[in-house]
Amino acid sequence: MDNRPIGLFDSGVGGLTVLKQIQEILPRESVIYLGDTQHLPYGDKSKEAIIRFSIENTKFLLRQNVKAILVACNSASSVAVEVLKETFKVPIIGVIEPTIKCISRKKTSSVLVIGTMRTVRSGVYQKKLQELNLGIEIFGKDCPLLVPLVEEGAFLNKGSLLYNALISTLEYYLGEYRGRVSHIVLGCTHYPAIENEIRFVMDGVELVDPGECAALELKEILEKNNMLSEEKNRFEKFFVTDLSEKTVEVAKIILQKEINIEEIYLPES
Ligand code: DGL
Repeated sequence: MDNRPIGLFDSGVGGLTVLKQIQEILPRESVIYLGDTQHLPYGDKSKEAIIRFSIENTKFLLRQNVKAILVACNSASSVAVEVLKETFKVPIIGVIEPTIKCISRKKTSSVLVIGTMRTVRSGVYQKKLQELNLGIEIFGKDCPLLVPLVEEGAFLNKGSLLYNALISTLEYYLGEYRGRVSHIVLGCTHYPAIENEIRFVMDGVELVDPGECAALELKEILEKNNMLSEEKNRFEKFFVTDLSEKTVEVAKIILQKEINIEEIYLPES
């Protein structure tokens, strides 16, 4: 048993979709969440910068005495998790390996990975899927307009102009894959917020949520190492590196409730 919290970090508050999965799959675990909003978005940053930010995020979480770290951000998972694993001793997992594991257990004929430019162009998801040798077709599509649309709450008001803009944008990015893919990997923290809309545009396609896959993997790791929490009074704490009005608004849009967020300063990275 280990009642210390799990550390979760993301480039911003989009990773709260991953927190939701942890709450469901690991209901006894406390969580310390860090959103590196000062450096948001990671999706169009260089690999080197994302690695530097990820190291500082990890150091902060370790100072909070976390027992394991989940990198919620797909962009950071694509380029920084291996470095973090080599640098730090606690269990560290990203969202990519667990997602590949999830897919390997499914009956798949073709997969489309959607995400930020960094995630899709890193090709990590596609390469690891290829290595499974399932003989499936693999596609990648970066969808940069989806993060701002989620952050504007475009999915909240069905039939509004913004909602229609979201549907048109999804059609623009995904339309060409209709009928050609059996699974879509929601390779960005924000996308689970619009899974209904993605399903609407891509009827019949199965969605794979990396946050869910990663929470399941984390559960397995904690179980195996006898590190599951038995705490009845679990807690959650939220930190960001820049607390703007926008951050508070987006957190509320994603969680559909208000949370108390604290601002912290990390060393220049
Ligand atoms: N959290 C990022 C991801 O999952 C999306 C937002 C960003 O670009 O930083 O890739």
